[in-house]
Amino acid sequence: MLNKKNILLGVTGGIAAYKTASLTRLFVKAGADVRILMSATAKHFITPLTLATLSKHPVMVDFFNPENGDWNSHVELGLWADAYLVAPATANTVGKMAAGIADNLLLTTYLSAKCPVFIAPAMDLDMYRHPSVTKNLDTLRSLGITIIEPESGELASGLTGKGRMAEPETIIYSLNAFFDAPFSGMHILITAGPTYERIDPVRFVGNFSTGKMGYALAETLAQQGAKVSLVSGPSMLNCKHPNIKRINVESAQEMYEECVKIFPSCEIGIMCAAVADYTPENPVNHKIKSKHDEGLILKLSKTKDIAAELGKMKTDRQLLAGFALETDNEQSNASNKLNAKNLDFIVLNSLNDQGAGFAGDTNKITIIDAKNKAIHYELKSKTDVARDIAEYLKKQLPETKSKHQNIV
Ligand code: CTP
Repeated sequence: MLNKKNILLGVTGGIAAYKTASLTRLFVKAGADVRILMSATAKHFITPLTLATLSKHPVMVDFFNPENGDWNSHVELGLWADAYLVAPATANTVGKMAAGIADNLLLTTYLSAKCPVFIAPAMDLDMYRHPSVTKNLDTLRSLGITIIEPESGELASGLTGKGRMAEPETIIYSLNAFFDAPFSGMHILITAGPTYERIDPVRFVGNFSTGKMGYALAETLAQQGAKVSLVSGPSMLNCKHPNIKRINVESAQEMYEECVKIFPSCEIGIMCAAVADYTPENPVNHKIKSKHDEGLILKLSKTKDIAAELGKMKTDRQLLAGFALETDNEQSNASNKLNAKNLDFIVLNSLNDQGAGFAGDTNKITIIDAKNKAIHYELKSKTDVARDIAEYLKKQLPETKSKHQNIV
């Protein structure tokens, strides 16, 4: 997808600038034409000679060459590019981009660019979580700029946390996904997080789901062009991508009501939420007192099975996927759920696999289809798992799309 694309790479002055050598190499290998702009400080971290050699074009730092008066036109560069990527983007450059300050070639080019803009921030963890930086990143996001999130790990300062520039492969993935956009024009429903079933105004029956897997999927599919409706139970997470519409719900019943409204306009539904199977039959609207010395019996009744209900509504232009978290007889339980709920495929994770399940940042999945064919994946970060699921979904698309075209 990057083949024959004109990529403008802006390198600013952070230690992660050293990674732009392999980033440039990956762009060139993918067939892209890469022109590089550097801030003056970036030259302390990597030499223009290295990047000029790898990109096969002179690197530009100043507006003109004082020796011969050659002019580097920021307007022409901005028009030439199919994408402008600033990597690494320091807190300083992020702040200037958000404020529209243009005191070097890299920034004037940003203001002239007509193409999509991507930034890969890199800074120390305290800088990254400073409210000023958060606000500047939000401003850039609201302007339609794609932020390629930094990763967590050891930082140049010796501290450990979020702020390390995304790996070159991840940056390439994001640009590829943008140009490829296999889900563009599609509406995808994703459920995520736990549900809370009220006992009284201060207590609920719930589970340990955080929503990480569903949110990672929403982000990945939105980056690949989908319009995503994310129906989320209570979760501390935020969605970043402007293509994601988040609908907050609390209980299984509320989640069900939102999903049945949204699903008919979707091509794909992915049921990622850990929905409560039972809900207190008689929630009360006053706080239950602690005086029940004989104990308390809570009667629970069945909730609606959202996946199964959508499975009944599903037309042949739609795909429906579910998740199964199992502790024993994993594969056969997952297949039974797939059949009972009329799903097209089910993503199985087993609590017996270390690193899989709720709350953690990793997952290990097996995808099982309606013909009982299973694909096993390695233990990966939830973002990488989301990409594997997106890749699998993409392969199912020609069928979905042609079904769609038959209907309209
Ligand atoms: N699901 C749902 N609504 C429910 C229960 C489950 O939509 N009330 C969905 C989940 O989002 C998931 C799939 O169904 O995609 C399987 O959920 P899981 O909790 O693993 O299975 P259950 O059907 O609830 O069966 P059990 O709890 O007995 O394993």
